[in-house]
Amino acid sequence: MWGQIVDEIEAIDQMRSGLAAGIVALDQSDITEKTFEAVCKPAGMRLQQFAVKNGLRASQQSVKNRNPKNALDPKWKDDYRRFEKDSSLRAVTRSDGTYLRRIQVEAACLKCHGQTNDRPVFVVQKYPEDRAHGFRVGQLRGLYVIEALAR
Ligand code: HEC
Repeated sequence: MWGQIVDEIEAIDQMRSGLAAGIVALDQSDITEKTFEAVCKPAGMRLQQFAVKNGLRASQQSVKNRNPKNALDPKWKDDYRRFEKDSSLRAVTRSDGTYLRRIQVEAACLKCHGQTNDRPVFVVQKYPEDRAHGFRVGQLRGLYVIEALAR
Protein backbone atom coordinates (compact mmCIF):
# COMPACT_ATOMS: atom_id res chain seq x y z
CA MET A 1 0.00 0.00 0.00
CA TRP A 2 2.71 2.47 0.99
CA GLY A 3 4.62 2.03 -2.23
CA GLN A 4 1.42 2.74 -4.09
CA ILE A 5 0.80 5.91 -2.06
CA VAL A 6 4.33 7.17 -2.68
CA ASP A 7 4.02 6.48 -6.43
CA GLU A 8 0.64 8.17 -6.74
CA ILE A 9 1.74 11.30 -4.86
CA GLU A 10 4.84 11.54 -7.06
CA ALA A 11 2.62 11.19 -10.13
CA ILE A 12 0.18 13.88 -8.93
CA ASP A 13 3.01 16.26 -8.14
CA GLN A 14 4.65 15.70 -11.52
CA MET A 15 1.31 16.14 -13.25
CA ARG A 16 0.81 19.55 -11.62
CA SER A 17 4.37 20.64 -12.49
CA GLY A 18 3.77 19.69 -16.11
CA LEU A 19 0.39 21.44 -16.26
CA ALA A 20 1.82 24.60 -14.67
CA ALA A 21 4.75 24.58 -17.09
CA GLY A 22 2.22 24.45 -19.91
CA ILE A 23 0.62 27.78 -18.95
CA VAL A 24 3.78 29.70 -18.12
CA ALA A 25 3.84 31.53 -21.47
CA LEU A 26 0.39 33.07 -20.89
CA ASP A 27 0.15 36.79 -20.17
CA GLN A 28 -0.78 37.45 -16.56
CA SER A 29 -4.06 39.07 -17.67
CA ASP A 30 -5.02 35.87 -19.53
CA ILE A 31 -4.84 33.70 -16.39
CA THR A 32 -8.42 32.93 -15.43
CA GLU A 33 -10.38 30.35 -13.48
CA LYS A 34 -10.19 28.20 -16.62
CA THR A 35 -6.42 28.15 -16.26
CA PHE A 36 -6.77 27.00 -12.66
CA GLU A 37 -9.09 24.24 -13.85
CA ALA A 38 -6.15 22.99 -15.90
CA VAL A 39 -3.51 23.13 -13.12
CA CYS A 40 -4.31 22.88 -9.39
CA LYS A 41 -7.88 21.65 -9.72
CA PRO A 42 -6.99 18.35 -11.43
CA ALA A 43 -4.24 17.77 -8.87
CA GLY A 44 -6.72 18.17 -6.00
CA MET A 45 -9.34 16.01 -7.72
CA ARG A 46 -6.92 13.19 -8.47
CA LEU A 47 -5.74 13.23 -4.86
CA GLN A 48 -9.32 12.90 -3.57
CA GLN A 49 -10.17 10.14 -6.06
CA PHE A 50 -7.14 8.16 -4.97
CA ALA A 51 -8.04 8.62 -1.29
CA VAL A 52 -11.66 7.52 -1.71
CA LYS A 53 -10.66 4.49 -3.75
CA ASN A 54 -8.17 3.33 -1.13
CA GLY A 55 -9.93 4.24 2.13
CA LEU A 56 -7.50 7.03 2.96
CA ARG A 57 -7.82 10.64 3.98
CA ALA A 58 -5.74 12.91 1.76
CA SER A 59 -5.27 16.65 1.72
CA GLN A 60 -2.93 19.45 0.75
CA GLN A 61 -2.15 21.61 3.73
CA SER A 62 -0.20 24.83 4.13
CA VAL A 63 0.44 27.63 6.60
CA LYS A 64 0.00 29.87 3.54
CA ASN A 65 -3.19 28.40 2.18
CA ARG A 66 -5.53 29.72 -0.49
CA ASN A 67 -8.62 27.61 0.13
CA PRO A 68 -9.57 27.95 3.82
CA LYS A 69 -10.08 24.15 3.87
CA ASN A 70 -6.37 23.63 3.26
CA ALA A 71 -5.03 25.30 6.40
CA LEU A 72 -2.36 23.29 8.19
CA ASP A 73 -3.73 21.07 10.95
CA PRO A 74 -1.83 22.21 14.07
CA LYS A 75 -0.93 18.59 14.81
CA TRP A 76 1.54 18.66 11.88
CA LYS A 77 3.17 21.92 13.00
CA ASP A 78 6.46 20.41 14.12
CA ASP A 79 6.75 18.29 10.99
CA TYR A 80 6.01 21.35 8.86
CA ARG A 81 8.82 23.24 10.54
CA ARG A 82 11.22 20.41 9.71
CA PHE A 83 10.27 20.66 6.01
CA GLU A 84 10.72 24.45 6.12
CA LYS A 85 14.15 24.20 7.69
CA ASP A 86 15.48 21.37 5.54
CA SER A 87 14.80 21.97 1.86
CA SER A 88 16.24 18.55 0.98
CA LEU A 89 13.60 16.77 3.08
CA ARG A 90 11.16 15.29 0.57
CA ALA A 91 8.89 13.06 2.60
CA VAL A 92 8.29 11.75 6.11
CA THR A 93 6.40 8.65 7.22
CA ARG A 94 5.41 9.22 10.85
CA SER A 95 5.27 6.43 13.40
CA ASP A 96 1.45 6.71 13.36
CA GLY A 97 1.55 5.86 9.64
CA THR A 98 0.81 9.33 8.26
CA TYR A 99 2.68 10.14 5.06
CA LEU A 100 3.77 13.76 4.54
CA ARG A 101 5.30 14.88 1.23
CA ARG A 102 6.79 18.26 0.33
CA ILE A 103 5.11 20.56 -2.21
CA GLN A 104 7.72 22.89 -3.62
CA VAL A 105 7.28 26.28 -5.33
CA GLU A 106 8.46 26.25 -8.96
CA ALA A 107 8.74 29.15 -11.37
CA ALA A 108 5.48 28.33 -13.16
CA CYS A 109 3.54 28.35 -9.87
CA LEU A 110 4.28 32.07 -9.48
CA LYS A 111 1.69 32.87 -12.15
CA CYS A 112 -0.90 32.32 -9.43
CA HIS A 113 1.11 32.09 -6.20
CA GLY A 114 3.62 34.87 -6.89
CA GLN A 115 3.63 38.53 -5.94
CA THR A 116 0.61 39.69 -4.01
CA ASN A 117 -0.21 42.53 -6.42
CA ASP A 118 0.26 40.31 -9.43
CA ARG A 119 -2.37 37.69 -8.56
CA PRO A 120 -4.97 36.83 -11.21
CA VAL A 121 -8.24 38.72 -10.78
CA PHE A 122 -10.26 35.56 -10.13
CA VAL A 123 -7.97 34.65 -7.22
CA VAL A 124 -8.42 38.02 -5.54
CA GLN A 125 -12.20 37.85 -6.00
CA LYS A 126 -12.78 34.23 -5.09
CA TYR A 127 -10.36 33.87 -2.16
CA PRO A 128 -10.72 36.86 0.19
CA GLU A 129 -8.63 35.06 2.84
CA ASP A 130 -5.90 34.02 0.39
CA ARG A 131 -2.50 33.50 1.99
CA ALA A 132 -0.97 31.51 -0.89
CA HIS A 133 0.92 34.38 -2.50
CA GLY A 134 4.26 36.11 -2.17
CA PHE A 135 6.15 32.85 -2.69
CA ARG A 136 9.61 32.49 -4.21
CA VAL A 137 10.98 29.57 -6.21
CA GLY A 138 12.26 26.81 -3.93
CA GLN A 139 10.10 27.68 -0.93
CA LEU A 140 7.83 25.20 0.78
CA ARG A 141 4.35 25.59 -0.73
CA GLY A 142 2.72 23.01 1.52
CA LEU A 143 2.42 19.30 2.23
CA TYR A 144 0.46 16.37 0.89
CA VAL A 145 -0.93 14.63 3.99
CA ILE A 146 -2.11 11.02 3.64
CA GLU A 147 -3.72 9.27 6.59
CA ALA A 148 -5.53 5.98 7.05
CA LEU A 149 -9.25 6.54 7.69
CA ALA A 150 -9.72 4.18 10.60
CA ARG A 151 -7.20 2.55 12.85
C1 HEC B 1 -3.61 29.05 -12.81
C2 HEC B 1 -3.38 29.39 -11.46
C3 HEC B 1 -2.53 28.46 -10.60
C4 HEC B 1 -1.29 27.96 -10.86
C5 HEC B 1 -0.42 28.18 -12.09
C6 HEC B 1 -0.90 27.19 -9.70
N1 HEC B 1 -1.91 27.23 -8.77
FE1 HEC B 1 -1.91 26.27 -6.98
N2 HEC B 1 -3.82 26.93 -6.62
C7 HEC B 1 -4.53 27.78 -7.43
C8 HEC B 1 -5.83 28.01 -6.84
C9 HEC B 1 -6.94 28.88 -7.40
C10 HEC B 1 -5.87 27.24 -5.66
C11 HEC B 1 -7.05 27.08 -4.67
C12 HEC B 1 -7.73 25.75 -4.93
C13 HEC B 1 -8.96 25.49 -4.11
O1 HEC B 1 -9.89 26.30 -4.12
O2 HEC B 1 -9.00 24.45 -3.47
C14 HEC B 1 -4.58 26.58 -5.56
C15 HEC B 1 -4.23 25.73 -4.52
C16 HEC B 1 -3.00 25.13 -4.38
C17 HEC B 1 -2.65 24.25 -3.29
C18 HEC B 1 -3.57 23.77 -2.16
C19 HEC B 1 -3.35 24.52 -0.88
C20 HEC B 1 -4.02 25.87 -0.82
O3 HEC B 1 -3.28 26.85 -0.74
O4 HEC B 1 -5.26 25.97 -0.87
C21 HEC B 1 -1.36 23.88 -3.49
C22 HEC B 1 -0.54 22.96 -2.60
C23 HEC B 1 -0.91 24.51 -4.70
N3 HEC B 1 -1.93 25.27 -5.21
C24 HEC B 1 0.36 24.36 -5.23
C25 HEC B 1 0.74 24.83 -6.49
C26 HEC B 1 2.01 24.52 -7.12
C27 HEC B 1 3.10 23.69 -6.48
C28 HEC B 1 1.98 25.10 -8.36
C29 HEC B 1 3.04 25.05 -9.43
C30 HEC B 1 3.58 23.74 -9.79
C31 HEC B 1 0.70 25.79 -8.49
N4 HEC B 1 -0.02 25.61 -7.33
C32 HEC B 1 0.30 26.51 -9.59
C33 HEC B 1 -4.11 28.32 -8.61
C34 HEC B 1 -2.92 27.99 -9.27
